[in-house]
Amino acid sequence: MTADFLIIGTGIAGLSMAIRAARHGHVICLSKGQLLDSNTAWAQGGIAAVLPDSLRDPGDSCELHIADTLDAGAGLCHESVVRTIIEEGSRTIDDLVHYGVDFDAQDGKYSLGKEGGHSKRRILHARDTTGREIADALVTTARNTPNLTLLENHFAIDLITTGKLGMVTDDRVLGAYVLNRVTGEVEIFRSDRVILATGGCGKVYLYTTNPDSATGDGVAMAWRAGASIANMEFIQFHPTCWYNPAASGAEARSFLVTEALRGEGAVLINQKGEDFILKHDPRGSLAPRDIVARAIDHEIKRTGAPCVYLDVRHKAEGFMKERFPFIYETLLRYGLDCEKEPIPVVPAAHYQCGGVVTDINGKTTLRGLYAIGEVACTGLHGANRLASNSLLEGNVTARRALDEMLAHLHPHRESEDFVIPTWEHGDTAAPDELVVIYHNWDEIRRLMWDYVSIVRTDNRLRRAATRLRNLKKEVREFYWGHRVNADILELRNLVSVASMIVDCAVKRKESRGLHYTTDHPKTKPNLAQDTRIRKF
Ligand code: FAD
Ligand code: SIN
Repeated sequence: MTADFLIIGTGIAGLSMAIRAARHGHVICLSKGQLLDSNTAWAQGGIAAVLPDSLRDPGDSCELHIADTLDAGAGLCHESVVRTIIEEGSRTIDDLVHYGVDFDAQDGKYSLGKEGGHSKRRILHARDTTGREIADALVTTARNTPNLTLLENHFAIDLITTGKLGMVTDDRVLGAYVLNRVTGEVEIFRSDRVILATGGCGKVYLYTTNPDSATGDGVAMAWRAGASIANMEFIQFHPTCWYNPAASGAEARSFLVTEALRGEGAVLINQKGEDFILKHDPRGSLAPRDIVARAIDHEIKRTGAPCVYLDVRHKAEGFMKERFPFIYETLLRYGLDCEKEPIPVVPAAHYQCGGVVTDINGKTTLRGLYAIGEVACTGLHGANRLASNSLLEGNVTARRALDEMLAHLHPHRESEDFVIPTWEHGDTAAPDELVVIYHNWDEIRRLMWDYVSIVRTDNRLRRAATRLRNLKKEVREFYWGHRVNADILELRNLVSVASMIVDCAVKRKESRGLHYTTDHPKTKPNLAQDTRIRKF
């Protein structure tokens, strides 16, 4: 298969680009599962944007949104990137509305929500299922877009580059090896422009708000292809994931209770009913996420309680049903009426602030390779992402990356000039060997949670590095010896991404934003730079 644009991922970033790119050439857009298996479809709170004067919160401005983003980013945001993305907020909303997204509005004006770290109301939302609203609109538009081939169950394994084919003068991307999960065959997809829009890596941790598809495949593929990666130590933990030891199933284990709820007055309390966040930050429950997550972690360790609580009982009856119906109904299904009882919550891994290094136009350090959305590290988030800035970033960088590619579009497809070897399959693993995959998967996620989560130490990072070194070896042997399937591919990517997180964390000998270590508790002004790593 050959395409002018090969886009890997069908979240907001991938689909926003695919729909536009199809006006300029043939687009193939892959999803390793169903089209809606993405972080995008799970987003709750909304999308941050400063609207034109008459529609915005009085007093709000792009300058304020920029200042809030820089403040959350703890000295590592790239200011010009922040400025560019935030100034395109209003255009992004127009774009999404054009695709059919129906944001909540009242009396002809959008209803604007607030989340931690935002000084004004500027979050557009569709009740508490904003992501699903956006994903549905984009999928419907994409299905009706000529020149765009959407392929579900197509798992990108690795990028094909001239370097991997043995060329030495110039390294560039030529396409990807892709596992067709229906036939079990590995196919070659050629393109001079490959766009990673593969999302984040929440599944590297035992507890996460992310769906199962978030296994860091894009970062791992880019790493193996020799692209630069940065800031993987900055994993954002969302403060409020529903805690219910009795519940089972993916939804129950990773069910987010949106920060927008705190924006509407919900308060975090401990078992004694105390508003304990105030001891850590005068902004209380609406302080930036890193502060709130650390305060909860501290409170849980201090009291020995399994969780803290989010209290909305003081809100008017019917408020939850009206404004947060998804959360209300889901909790009710599990037997909790949150208008009458506080909601038990714990922090969980949520967002990858680092990723594949790109400029503001999605360009990576490898020719022909672009990265957009959560997989990329543009410099917008720095050491801590401001809530609801990522859907915005996904749409803006998709648009900009396409413009950049179009400026250099060449009618000749270079990737067709190369002989690309077909994939060599290994042996099919005996069923009793599959336990290796599940055991290693579990071990990685548990060790990352125990040793590399909200509060870190040098000693724990060293332990994690030692275990990961052994696990990497085992996974590599398994990978090369057996026929590939989605489980082994995800395990291979998870162990790589976990190693990158640990390597970046080891390099940062200070505490900054989301990276907090008791061995280096202070922020050191001379270390205000990105942690860049690359495979040699
Ligand atoms: P995704 O939407 O994650 O899409 C990734 C795509 O890549 C998927 O289609 C996946 O199948 C595909 N893929 C991955 N690997 C491969 C592979 N190897 N081969 C083929 N396909 C592959 N952000 C906000 O701004 N506001 C919010 O309110 C908000 N709420 C959130 C709530 C939750 C529960 C979660 C988990 C995240 C939330 N976020 C929110 C973050 C935001 O949703 C994501 O950062 C954003 O949607 C990422 O979009 P994306 O297009 O980069 O990736
Ligand atoms: C939330 O709704 O709390 C998540 C928002 C985000 O991650 O940006």
